[in-house]
Amino acid sequence: MANHAPVGHEKIETSNFLMIVLVLLTVSVGGLVEIVPLFFQRSTTQPVENLKPYTPLQLAGRDIYIREGCVGCHSQMVRPFRSETLRYGSYSKAGEFVYDRPFLWGSKRTGPDLQRVGGKYSDEWHRIHLLNPRDLVPESNMPAYGWLEHAKLDPVEMAPKMRALQRLGVPYGDDEITRAGEDVKGKSELDAVVAYLQVLGTAVK
Ligand code: HEC
Repeated sequence: MANHAPVGHEKIETSNFLMIVLVLLTVSVGGLVEIVPLFFQRSTTQPVENLKPYTPLQLAGRDIYIREGCVGCHSQMVRPFRSETLRYGSYSKAGEFVYDRPFLWGSKRTGPDLQRVGGKYSDEWHRIHLLNPRDLVPESNMPAYGWLEHAKLDPVEMAPKMRALQRLGVPYGDDEITRAGEDVKGKSELDAVVAYLQVLGTAVK
């Protein structure tokens, strides 16, 4: 039995309350020191040089990518390892994602990373692949997305989406937003997804 009053560390280690409070304090300070500087670093908050906001058609494609859950099987984040850069190309930079809301980095790779897929294949390749992946990659277990071909985009939906992004800091011009519908008029969801895939990762060579 302790025959003296607890002092110093013993005092902390024998009190649940004190231990919990001090652990939380230490972890919070450590976390803030790591995270807060990122908000002020140019390389994480400024777009990379060639980055353009998504066109209305690409933006529509991005929303379909989200709706169809492509992110559940595909990441969009090339990590700075040799095995990754040899396979996919240049590793991802924070400045490539400043117009992405929400981010689609993903964490699961049932299929390959798609961050650098833009320009890798022809539009026609993507169309055939999305309609039935097995026509091009016989062993593929990616689902077929046949309905995208017949679903038409709604031009009226685009302007409000772009206005919301504009409010969040994406530099869309007002005239660009007014004309947004024209870009998607008569186009199918398949056209939109292909346009989106083709621009992915192209701001960095
Ligand atoms: C169940 C998991 C799964 C889902 C969901 C999925 N994919 Fe895939 N995807 C794969 C697999 C596996 C491959 C590799 C085989 C192939 O090329 O078909 C692949 C390949 C690809 C490729 C070719 C990449 C390359 O570099 O060769 C593209 C592009 C692609 N998927 C786009 C999409 C899009 C867009 C969606 C959503 C509409 C989607 N995928 C949904 C599993 C998936």
